[in-house]
Amino acid sequence: MSRILCVSGASSDVGCCLIRAVAENYDRIVCHYNRSMEPMRELQEQFGEKIVPIQADFSDETSTVRFARTVVESGLAPQHFVHLAASSFVNVKFGKTDWKSFEREIGIDFRSAVILSQTFAPLMVKQKYGKIIYMLSSMIVQKPEKPFSTAYTCTKHALFGLMKSLAAEYAGKHVTVNAVSPSVIDTKFLRIPGLVKQMNIESSPIKRLLTPEDVVPTFAFLLSPGADTITGQNIPVTAGN
Ligand SMILES: NC(=O)c1ccc[n+]([C@@H]2O[C@H](COP(=O)([O-])OP(=O)(O)OC[C@H]3O[C@@H](n4cnc5c(N)ncnc54)[C@H](OP(=O)(O)O)[C@@H]3O)[C@@H](O)[C@H]2O)c1
Repeated sequence: MSRILCVSGASSDVGCCLIRAVAENYDRIVCHYNRSMEPMRELQEQFGEKIVPIQADFSDETSTVRFARTVVESGLAPQHFVHLAASSFVNVKFGKTDWKSFEREIGIDFRSAVILSQTFAPLMVKQKYGKIIYMLSSMIVQKPEKPFSTAYTCTKHALFGLMKSLAAEYAGKHVTVNAVSPSVIDTKFLRIPGLVKQMNIESSPIKRLLTPEDVVPTFAFLLSPGADTITGQNIPVTAGN
């Protein structure tokens, strides 16, 4: 049986860092991207045919369903699925967050998680082996809660609920479902204002933002055999924040 990993949002800094860290454990890695083809080319240069880039715009339900179908029909149904895709984090007041912003955030991050998990999980059950990991955020665990990110925070809470529900439903069926909740990660895509970035650095016990390398080992552990009996857990990676 081929060992297959599927990473949504593989084109993000966290996605590329994760794939480099765990690539040797897999025969094929389905790398989802939306607009950023360059990171895919770099991964292909490094790992050759093991990397299978597939494009999809998760703000579009049809594109999302097509992605799920393409993966399965290409014989690439994964045993391991890591869901990283999300729309860019924006700092905006609730009064200025229209319903379209909620819909977009929910479509990209949550609906895609539902569609892909619904496609992959039953196949994992058939193979008697599978792992699903969702990328959440410290917004789920941090006290006090941070303002100005209603759509993002609500969507991550919906994903948290999905993780808990699926973990319960698939317990005893050889499929684990977990989540990771990091605080702010300094990625090339970080689009928060300089002042907010500085406030996050100052409020961090380690006085810096996280890097993808701080976060990836937690994913790698959850994907490892050592985590086969861990399910329904959300692991904060917040340096104590
Ligand atoms: N950075 C942080 O501070 C932080 C902290 C905690 C959690 N997170 C989470 O970590 C994950 C990665 O975020 P990041 O900060 O590394 O970078 P990012 O740019 O926010 O990553 C977003 C990823 O989602 C994909 N994406 C964006 N719009 C999409 C769409 N319409 N359809 C399908 N995919 C789409 C992007 O693909 P393309 O680039 O190919 O378009 C990219 O791979 C997200 O789930 C985020 O919520 C980030």
